[in-house]
Amino acid sequence: MRVHLEAIPEIDRYLANFGTYELKDKTPEYERYLSYVGKVLKVDASMRILEVGTGTGWFPLLCKANGLQCKGLEISPQLVECAMQIGKRNGIVPDIELGNVEDNDIGVEQYDVVIASSVFEHVEHWRSGLAKIYKALKPGGAMFFESTNKFSFAKSGEFHKVPLYGWLPDAARYRLRMATHGKDIMKLGIDFNQFRHSLLRREFKKLGFRKVLDVVDLVDADRLSPLKRSVTLASRTLPPVRSLLLTFVMPATTFVCQK
Ligand SMILES: C[S@@+](CC[C@H](N)C(=O)[O-])C[C@H]1O[C@@H](n2cnc3c(N)ncnc32)[C@H](O)[C@@H]1O
Repeated sequence: MRVHLEAIPEIDRYLANFGTYELKDKTPEYERYLSYVGKVLKVDASMRILEVGTGTGWFPLLCKANGLQCKGLEISPQLVECAMQIGKRNGIVPDIELGNVEDNDIGVEQYDVVIASSVFEHVEHWRSGLAKIYKALKPGGAMFFESTNKFSFAKSGEFHKVPLYGWLPDAARYRLRMATHGKDIMKLGIDFNQFRHSLLRREFKKLGFRKVLDVVDLVDADRLSPLKRSVTLASRTLPPVRSLLLTFVMPATTFVCQK
């Protein structure tokens, strides 16, 4: 993958759908990330945060609005510009660099927290991207990771017109998306990766993360409906229930990993 300066249809579609928003509407999602990271690390104003794949910029903008230091890395110049414009409307200048996590130097032991949400499905060489994040984290630092969940029965966030889209082999998904959206989807926007919890957990451990928590560990069960609460509590004690829940029910792979 590389930075494309020219317009890309998938980015135009993304901007048409998500390019206009009120920062306050993103607060629950912002708080969810920080509360999940908070399971291993209390985030405060002294810490350095990096978000990889900032999209329309709401996470670094909300960090700055709340006194946290967050730098962003984003591959699309149009999305960096969108974040700047939304920042301008809110009196905030976000610190977002144009670049590709596969190529950019993000340093060694620079960050306390890295956020990678809905981005690694789009990163072609995802293993090397993750290795760079691991290196860029300080010892004890934490990564919030959220991405696709291949065998989920939930509607796909990538392409919901075809049931069980994520189950398709990579080549079939790429062909389907090129036929629907044009060849440029392969420049940026394609889901190169449909992940599985077990694959990711293995990769995180291989990289050296000493703590790897999934959504069953992270979610606050007391805030769930009675049914979801019972299933979550059962998943915490019964590995086969956890495995079924994570594989087929959860719409995403969600992890917090501590170095
Ligand atoms: C689906 S959006 C998610 C944006 C944001 N994290 C959110 O949750 O709203 C994925 C973002 O990652 C960016 N992206 C994809 N591949 C990237 C890469 N290799 N390096 C940096 N950013 C990338 C895309 O341009 C896009 O802005």
